[in-house]
Amino acid sequence: MTRHLLEVDDLSAPELATVLDLAERPDPPQVLAGRGMALLFEKPSLRTRNATEMAVVQLGGHPLSVRAEEVDVDVREPASDVARALSGYHAAIGARVFDHSTLKRMAAAASVPVVNLLSDASHPCQALADLLTIRRHFGRLAGIQVAYVGDFNNVARSLGLAAASSGMTVRYACPDAYGPGQADLDAARAVGGDVSSTTVPAEAVSGADVVYTDVWTSMGAEDEAEHRRHAFEGFTVDEELMARAGEAGVFLHCLPAHRGEEVAAAVVDGPRSLVWEQAENRMHAVRGLLLFLLAERRERHEPGDTSPAP
Ligand code: CP
Ligand code: NVA
Repeated sequence: MTRHLLEVDDLSAPELATVLDLAERPDPPQVLAGRGMALLFEKPSLRTRNATEMAVVQLGGHPLSVRAEEVDVDVREPASDVARALSGYHAAIGARVFDHSTLKRMAAAASVPVVNLLSDASHPCQALADLLTIRRHFGRLAGIQVAYVGDFNNVARSLGLAAASSGMTVRYACPDAYGPGQADLDAARAVGGDVSSTTVPAEAVSGADVVYTDVWTSMGAEDEAEHRRHAFEGFTVDEELMARAGEAGVFLHCLPAHRGEEVAAAVVDGPRSLVWEQAENRMHAVRGLLLFLLAERRERHEPGDTSPAP
């Protein structure tokens, strides 16, 4: 079976730690020499595209990014046929999609690893970079308390799973109707985490080591933006809220940030913000992930895998 990364819990806890260790390798083996990775984007991207393209280059490979409308996915041909064809040219496929089920169909048809570069449901590569950033800063993950304030979205879901599986405590603070469902809490608890949810930001942030937020309106939900601005009043991460975090508490945001909405400029641009390290770590984390997925593949010697061993 080809390994894919559609959500963080496709990796066991030890595998997640291995990916983070691989992300730290100073001279990564050139596992992609003479090979490519196809990157398909249905939505805009700055960090994910640049980070993944450069990670592929650092592994000796050639990244090939395309906007989905160029391919006309599911109009000109089904996503499954796209994945099957791309498997003939590339060692791995990455895709950013509106609907998570598109990724599932691609993974089911692909004969090379498929990596989720963000869907409506999850953003696992972001979560890997978030954990790398936290581990680099605090020197450990176990026991770290993370407070996520705002919309329970793709970023929040993957962060919760990654943090829970790494022995961290997760406290969500989201407005009513924008928080995690029982199934989300159960999924994070199933990987071993201490996870809870409240509608009071100050409660979640109290004593936190990491305060995290993301946009109130994700890509694809733009027509809800005005309504959401009202629903999320009181959920801005500002200096007053940050003062409730632990003394050594830091601020994270996957970016892009909207200053004056989910975060105050004084926080995202302030001394406790690690957002630029976090953004750079997207590249190191995805490089570690690719090393892991491609090495797994070589060890398995799959029948029908005619691509050169990494
Ligand atoms: N954080 C993140 O995924 O950024 P982009 O949307 O710019 O890729
Ligand atoms: N939740 C955001 C993350 C962007 C990186 C979105 O989906 O638009």
